[in-house]
Amino acid sequence: MARLTINGRSLEVNVSPNTPLLWAIREQVGLTGTKYGCGIAQCGACTVHVDGVAVRSCSIPVAAVAGKKITTIEGLATGAVLHKVQKAWLDHEVPQCGYCQAGMMMAVAALLKDKPKPTDADIDARITNICRCGTFQQVREAIHAAAKA
Ligand code: FES
Ligand code: FES
Repeated sequence: MARLTINGRSLEVNVSPNTPLLWAIREQVGLTGTKYGCGIAQCGACTVHVDGVAVRSCSIPVAAVAGKKITTIEGLATGAVLHKVQKAWLDHEVPQCGYCQAGMMMAVAALLKDKPKPTDADIDARITNICRCGTFQQVREAIHAAAKA
């Protein structure tokens, strides 16, 4: 058992301490916006925020995040008001199949918090998420649009 704070809710999850956070989020809490891609911290599909920092939830154990503030894609908007990254994603029609996009947006939201006006070099360094549909150019455009919002 572990107690996690996800999107502002305190929740008890019935997992062993070394269970990856991703599985607690998806299987126990039922928040399936966060995706499983590679399982080895390479693709970024599973990206969530832990105390505001983007982490790959497939590769961090539940025990490491107890007492910390976890935010998933379901908690990125504020009520009915979309996060500026989500709005830019819609405006620029970024998603194709969509599978990677929740993780992509979470990584970008964390980037913009640290660097409100990222350069292309900042984006290349920080947004290493993999998109099999090849949306990288639209992602870059939407990041710059969100930075101006
Ligand atoms: S599923 Fe976590 S990085 Fe790929
Ligand atoms: S939109 Fe299909 S994998 Fe990125």
